[in-house]
Amino acid sequence: MVSTLKPRTHSADLRFVILKDVAQIWSQTDHVVFKELFYNMIQMKLRGYEAEYPAGVLPIDTTDFFGHHLLICEEKNGFFYPVSGIKSTFLSESQRRQLNFPALSLVQAAEAPEHIKTMKKILERCEKENTNICYTGSWTTTPAIRKNREYNRTVIRHFYALYVLFHLEQKVDEIITGGTMRFKADHFFNEMGHEIFASEGKKLEPIFVKHLFGEKVQLLHLKKFTNTAIKKAEEFRDKWNQRVEISLNSIADVARFLKAG
Ligand SMILES: CC(C)(COP(=O)(O)OP(=O)(O)OC[C@H]1O[C@@H](n2cnc3c(N)ncnc32)[C@H](O)[C@@H]1OP(=O)(O)O)[C@@H](O)C(=O)NCCC(=O)NCCS
Repeated sequence: MVSTLKPRTHSADLRFVILKDVAQIWSQTDHVVFKELFYNMIQMKLRGYEAEYPAGVLPIDTTDFFGHHLLICEEKNGFFYPVSGIKSTFLSESQRRQLNFPALSLVQAAEAPEHIKTMKKILERCEKENTNICYTGSWTTTPAIRKNREYNRTVIRHFYALYVLFHLEQKVDEIITGGTMRFKADHFFNEMGHEIFASEGKKLEPIFVKHLFGEKVQLLHLKKFTNTAIKKAEEFRDKWNQRVEISLNSIADVARFLKAG
């Protein structure tokens, strides 16, 4: 019986979910859909990082309360269960809350002087020119899913598309991210158009990320998605069009929609 079962792919059941305004939703509403989603998302992040880093790793911070969570979710019994996700935090959102831009905090914690100088220069330019820049981080996939090779491949293809389509829709001009070299994430993001962080044409060395216990990470900077990335992402356009966006304004509608289903 078991031998006739096909590997689980669930492609049709995977849903793109964007969660934002966490602090406001939490403060102003009481929807169980949000509570379940946030709980499940944090659990996914903890389990994803704990599987790969020393005990005590904590892949969550203040930005979880106001950044955009880009999530790939299984939908079951009226709830969302994230299987993979990343967070995108805009410079404008950090400034509104009088908080350091997370990419700057990252290089400051790594005590990387050239990276700090370069990052400050980029942020000054972006502020002056009103450039829409964001930082993406804390990408992970639930360890149980990574063990299922075929399903994991399906999830990563979804992740790729969600990442590209979200940032295109947001009209992002530039993205800073970190590619963990142990997982070849630098290559993954590079194919999309992220280039090695550079100062006056000189590529900067990887940094050692403090909160990841000294993990070697290549800082990357995107100014334009490649045509290949856009083409690959466009295959998921229908799924993108059916995404669920959960914000303070939409949470009541989403809760009604899930109940109706
Ligand atoms: C980051 C993370 C989610 C990546 O997941 P992963 O399972 O390691 O991803 P892999 O590179 O092994 O890729 C999974 C599969 O997708 C395939 N794949 C990778 N990129 C792909 C792409 N762009 N398109 C299609 N398939 C792709 C791979 O070839 C691989 O297939 P295989 O198993 O047949 O070889 C995972 O390593 C993780 O959670 N790490 C811990 C948290 C962390 O450090 N995050 C920071 C990352 S910057």
